[in-house]
Amino acid sequence: MKYKNFPMVPRVVFGRGSFNQLNDILAPKRKNAKAPFIYLIDDVFKNNIWLISRIELSYDDRIIYISSAEEPKTSQVDELVEDIILSTKERPSGIIGIGGGTLLDLAKAVSIMLTNEGESHEYQGWDLVKNPAIYHVGIPTISGTGAEVSRTTVLTGPDKKLGINSDYTPFDQVVLDSELTKGVPKEQWFYTGMDCYIHCVESLEGTYLNEFSKSYGEKAFELCKSIFLEGALSDVESQEKLMMASWHGGMSIAYSQVGVAHAMSYGLAYVLGVKHGIGNCIVFDQLEEFYPEGVQMFKAMKSKYNIELPEGICRDLSDIELDTMINVSLGLEPLWENALGKGWKQKMTAKKLRELYKKM
Ligand SMILES: [Fe+2]
Repeated sequence: MKYKNFPMVPRVVFGRGSFNQLNDILAPKRKNAKAPFIYLIDDVFKNNIWLISRIELSYDDRIIYISSAEEPKTSQVDELVEDIILSTKERPSGIIGIGGGTLLDLAKAVSIMLTNEGESHEYQGWDLVKNPAIYHVGIPTISGTGAEVSRTTVLTGPDKKLGINSDYTPFDQVVLDSELTKGVPKEQWFYTGMDCYIHCVESLEGTYLNEFSKSYGEKAFELCKSIFLEGALSDVESQEKLMMASWHGGMSIAYSQVGVAHAMSYGLAYVLGVKHGIGNCIVFDQLEEFYPEGVQMFKAMKSKYNIELPEGICRDLSDIELDTMINVSLGLEPLWENALGKGWKQKMTAKKLRELYKKM
């Protein structure tokens, strides 16, 4: 048995308004006047003076606004890297991602690809990255994905949706300022929060479970319950608790794995472009057979917040599209093994998976 030697985010700030400290945090990391900081920011903040005016741009520092309407792609990472290389005099001092899982994953991937040759799809997998990434900072503005702590950056590539999992992927610095999450619309808040809830269920019910993952998973689960089921929290309490739930949920899967919902939602995302949070919800809603208590509680949370999930999204898929979906999903072996154990191939066949997808 070989145990993983797992890297963690070495520096984190937590606190309401801590975003104000960003300039002070970055200043000592500036290499010289020619090596700028590049900010990748969700374009919903484009005209948001409250947030943007607090970022001090000096020398060649630059903001690139990016839409998070679609899941991050390897081609998008390659274009960003190309653009940054062509427009900067020297390798940047750092990449700062501000947004949800999409922006955080893009920041991680871009910082890796600035120091590694070739195209980003060549690094999708486990431990393929050779050189350390440049300094990168993650600032979540919506909570749940765990992208702020994870050792992966999940990208849709030419032939699969898979993360760049490496020791160089985790952020060097994270700023957790729950005030940045105050404007998130209800549906998005719910879907992204449920990503965290599902991380907990999949980790706690998985065969890879150990005390390390359990301690984080149980805490995140408890926080999710108080936010999404028990209610009665102020907005500030709820935002702060969800920020920490996301962190703990991410830590929990770091030392174990996710399960059936994630394996299936990667298939949905690859073929239909369904975003991660809502995709997980659509799948998880149909997984009572695998996670009876978890799904029951999910349904209670859904009705408490009057969330209606889309239905019939796989109804009109061709056989070829369904086969692709099934193959992408079944390719995620560690997820299935965690969920169903070593003999998972007997339990989850292509036929069974097709029936499940047909229900969605
Ligand atoms: Fe997730």
